[in-house]
Formats: sequence, structure tokens, C-alpha cells
Amino acid sequence: MKVCILGTGYVGLTTGVCLAYMGHDVTCLDTDEAKVATMRGGKAPIYEPHLEDLMADSSANLRFTTSYAEAVPGAEVIFIAVGTPPGANGSPDLKYLASAANGIGEYLDGPFCVVVNKSTVPIGSGNWVGSLIRDSIEKARGPQSDRKFAVASNPEFLREGSALNDSLYPDRVVIGGDDSRTLEVLYRLYRPILDQTFSPPTYLPRPDGTGAVPLISADLASAELIKYAANAFLSTKISYINEIGQLAEKVGADITKVARGIGLDARIGTRFLQAGIGWGGSCFGKDTAALVATASEYGLDMPIVRAAREVNYKQRDRVVDKLLGELKILKGRTIGLLGLAFKPNTDDLREAPALDIAKKLIERGCKVKGHDPVAMERFRKEYPDLAINLVDRPVDVAAGADAVVLVTEWQEYRELDWEAMMKTMTCPIVLDGRNILDRERLVRYGYRYLPIV
Ligand SMILES: NC(=O)c1ccc[n+]([C@@H]2O[C@H](COP(=O)([O-])OP(=O)(O)OC[C@H]3O[C@@H](n4cnc5c(N)ncnc54)[C@H](O)[C@@H]3O)[C@@H](O)[C@H]2O)c1
Repeated sequence: MKVCILGTGYVGLTTGVCLAYMGHDVTCLDTDEAKVATMRGGKAPIYEPHLEDLMADSSANLRFTTSYAEAVPGAEVIFIAVGTPPGANGSPDLKYLASAANGIGEYLDGPFCVVVNKSTVPIGSGNWVGSLIRDSIEKARGPQSDRKFAVASNPEFLREGSALNDSLYPDRVVIGGDDSRTLEVLYRLYRPILDQTFSPPTYLPRPDGTGAVPLISADLASAELIKYAANAFLSTKISYINEIGQLAEKVGADITKVARGIGLDARIGTRFLQAGIGWGGSCFGKDTAALVATASEYGLDMPIVRAAREVNYKQRDRVVDKLLGELKILKGRTIGLLGLAFKPNTDDLREAPALDIAKKLIERGCKVKGHDPVAMERFRKEYPDLAINLVDRPVDVAAGADAVVLVTEWQEYRELDWEAMMKTMTCPIVLDGRNILDRERLVRYGYRYLPIV
């Protein structure tokens, strides 16, 4: 099928590359010329494991452009995958969505096209996008235009760091639309993934036990709400274990044991139950805020979701409080941060806890050193005013530091030579913000080991 993807960020590029791999004819459009030039050169503008390999393997079916006139005409399916960053009062800023919808209307031709909201958009956005497209068709061609299109919702559940796996082998595909023709087009598009009939790339093997992928087809509003409800639930699960963790610390319980003890109950599940610094990233904060904002438009409060947010952001303060408790004076101290990205295997820094923690420490007069295996280049570009002294090797964050904080649980940080690192520190304090380091070993070396809970 002829597919157009608008926006080539973490979601759009992953979607485009996976659909091209399935044999669809895909044109990816982004307004950022530098990104498009990078992708034309076979490179990914973001870090995502195996993305460049899959781009290469799908290159016969994949084009990149900045031109709506080139990308839109003839497309049977157009995905909108532009950013929906947080706006004022918690609602997402929809300016990129509006501009994509206008661009579609201007160039839409062909007998029938399904426009798919893949961006996470507030409930009701399907209708709104439809009206924007109609307005811009009318502006371009007049009211008698017979261009036919329908709007669908197809929320994305990929996780950065495992985006390709999540797209090729999803837990489920959700499609929202108000007529059977729309749902049928999207069913055809996703069929190789739903039925798992494609040959997997060698570097992204099909996980054992993967069967047919469940398809949830729903009306537009339900599909839109599924995405927000999923993210709010996952955020709440993390905040829940962090709240229990605070009590565990007071009563002398081990939160990792508590989490395992409750998580093995099949009704609860072990995932998203790791106590630590809490969530960051471009989705959970923005989407929980948007859910609360949408509810308030209907006169509804969402106390559980609000509490999950509050607990999450307090975890960052707890890092500073713990350092203060140990060091007594923070002014003039040097603190090393291991990890800047909001989670491992991505270079995404949006709402990364490391940035917030660094700001709080700097405000209190600390010097902050930092390291990340892949996000330092992006940090230099995006946060030139945040005074984190970046070092090339993770061990160097320890040199002369009064404490090291493990912020992002990159695998390589578990495997550092912690014994040698300790000898270079001013005070041997390690704050394990993800509760993943080998506490007994670190204590044996002579560290003062602080878990986050
Ligand atoms: N990142 C995730 O893990 C994730 C997961 C699920 C859903 N989502 C949702 O998907 C959407 C996209 O997220 P992302 O992380 O990929 O964003 P992103 O910021 O990485 O990418 C968005 C891209 O859209 C481009 N763009 C902006 N306006 C445009 C326009 N008018 N036409 C074409 N391109 C345009 C930008 O240049 C950018 O490259 C958001 O709504 C987000 O909430 C993200």
C-alpha cells in the first residue's frame, strides 16, 4: 500500500521503517530539513537500537522528503506522527498536528485516503483533525471538492530503546474509526504484523511464543482514551511502588523484595514495579497532565492520576534530600551523575530526571559532572545552558566527586570497576537511583551505599 508518514521522530520513523519492511511503499516527511538530509544519507537522527539496520534493509520501499506536495498525493494511508508537546495548563500543544492536517488537506487527491492519528492526541482530536482537513481542502479547491478521506486513531505503544521490537511484535494493535471501510484499510495495512507472516530480520528475531497479534477495533474516542489510560496506569504503577518504598524505608523493609513479592501475583505483575527515581520521558508526564486536563474540561477530577504525578516528581527531591542528609553541606560539593537519558538505550532527554536533579543540585551550589553512553551529543545541542560538566568515560564522573548518583540504569554502569572508581572519589558515597547495583559488593569495597527508597 502507498503510505505517507508525517513526522519522523521516535514514533514516525519507527513506523515508517517497519511498514516499509513489510513491503509497503512508504514516504516519510519531516519539516526539519537537517533530519531529512540525515535520513537520506541512511542515518537515523535519533538513537534507537537497529534502526539504521532496518532502514538499510527497507531502503527500496522508503523515501524521505520535506515536501507535502510530494508525500501526500496518491497515499492510501497517511499517518500523523508529529510531536504533541506539553502546552499551557497540561493540555498538549496541537500546533504541529494542526499544521500537518492543513498540509494533508492542501494536497489530498485520490479516491479514498485514511488519515491516522498516531500522535498521542486529546480525546476528540479525530473529529478536530477531520474538520481541519475539510477546511483546507475547501480552501485549496473550493466547497464542491469530492476528495474522500476518513480519520482514524491508531495509538502507539512503543517504548524507546525497544521501539522496533515493540512495533514488529506488539502486544496489541488498537484501531479506532467510525466506519468499516477505514478499519478494513488499516487491517490490510497491518496484516503482516497481525498475522506475523513476515520474515524477521536476523538482528530482531521473533520472540519465542509470539502468536497472532490481537487487534482491538473501536470507535475514535475509545481508541484515543486507551492510549491515555494505558500511560496513566503505568505511571501510577511506578508511583505506587515508590510510595510503598518510602514506607519500606521507614520500617526497614527491602522494597525490591516487597516488589517481587507482590509482582508475582499474576493480577499485579512484576513489570513497572521497580522503585527508584521515577519516570521521565516525553510521554508519561505529558500524557498524565493531558488526561487530568481533559477530565477537568468535563468537570471531573482525577485524584489517582494527580497523586501519581505528585509522587513521581517528589522522588527527584528525595535524591537531593538524601545527598543533603549524608553530606550536610551541598555548597561546593561535586556530584557525579551516571546517565542523562530518561532511560537506557535511548538518547531522548525530554523530561529526563537527570536534568531536573542537576538543576536542583546546581541551585544548591554543587558542581555537577555527568556521563551518558549515547545522549551527551544531544545534551550539548539541546541544553547548552545547563552547567553539567560532561566527561567521556563513566569512571571520570567519580574523580573528585563527593557522591555519585546512578540516574539511568544503563547496563554498562552495572559493570563498572566500582572498586577502582572509589579510590578517585573525595567521599565514597553512591546513591543508587534505580536500585540495581550490587549493594553488598559496594559496601565491601567501602562505599556508603544509599538506595533511593
Ligand atoms: N516517543 C515515544 O516513546 C512515544 C510513544 C508513543 C506515542 N508517542 C507520541 O507520538 C507522537 C510523536 O512523538 P515522538 O517522540 O516521535 O516525537 P518527536 O518530537 O521525536 O518527533 C516529531 C517529529 O515531527 C516533526 N514535525 C513537526 N511538525 C511537523 C509537520 N507539520 N509535518 C511533518 N513533520 C513535523 C518534527 O520535526 C519531529 O521530527 C507524540 O504525540 C507522542 O506523544 C511517543
